[in-house]
Amino acid sequence: MPVWKTLVSEPVGQVMAATCHLLLISGSLRTRSTNTAVLRTAQALAPDSVTILVYDRVAELPHFNPDYDTDQPPPAVGDLRTAIRQADAVLFSVPEYAGALPGSFKNLLDWTIGDDQPGSIYEKPVAWINASPRGAVNAHESLRKVLGYASAAILEPACVEIPVIAAMLDDDGLIVDASTRGQVTHAVTTLAGHACASQGGETPES
Ligand SMILES: Cc1cc2nc3c(=O)[nH]c(=O)nc-3n(C[C@H](O)[C@H](O)[C@H](O)COP(=O)(O)O)c2cc1C
Repeated sequence: MPVWKTLVSEPVGQVMAATCHLLLISGSLRTRSTNTAVLRTAQALAPDSVTILVYDRVAELPHFNPDYDTDQPPPAVGDLRTAIRQADAVLFSVPEYAGALPGSFKNLLDWTIGDDQPGSIYEKPVAWINASPRGAVNAHESLRKVLGYASAAILEPACVEIPVIAAMLDDDGLIVDASTRGQVTHAVTTLAGHACASQGGETPES
């Protein structure tokens, strides 16, 4: 299980947990994925008050099978559910394949539905960055439908379109364009601000 990116350091060496945990999930398995690039850029640019975990184990999840959707699911599924429970909010970035969500990503969503433990996808604040220059309308309609079925709390102000093409990525797979980086940062702070404001703690802008 990867570790959360950031702890906020206090003076004289004390360390406290940062105020807002975001889990970022890409719907693409492709090495040079633009959707993954958006999320990795978000991780790189996140303010210190936000911790970011980019989930990178979509390909390890077994095919969804209700027979294994138990209190002791397959280990990769258990790790996914733990990551979701530990997050204050989940941010997705997903491409459209053949007019729909990618199968591997829909498989991930299917595994989230059956978790009945506190902090699961149920009523979890969620949002997405639509990175497709072509709109990917069908995929995002489907994403909205599935998240609604899961009873996730879609944070509308944090659902944004930030078109990204391959030419906008550097050798490390991060977005280089300053304007787009600014939009990604704004999306993250908007999500964190809405998801964590109700905790009574600091918002990323405060
Ligand atoms: C098999 C396949 C099917 C695709 N179908 C669609 C589609 O229906 N609608 C669309 O807008 N883009 C479609 N695309 C384009 C991808 O969504 C686009 O290449 C996207 O950037 C892939 O995301 P990634 O860069 O994160 O891997 C398709 C691409 C592939 C490889």
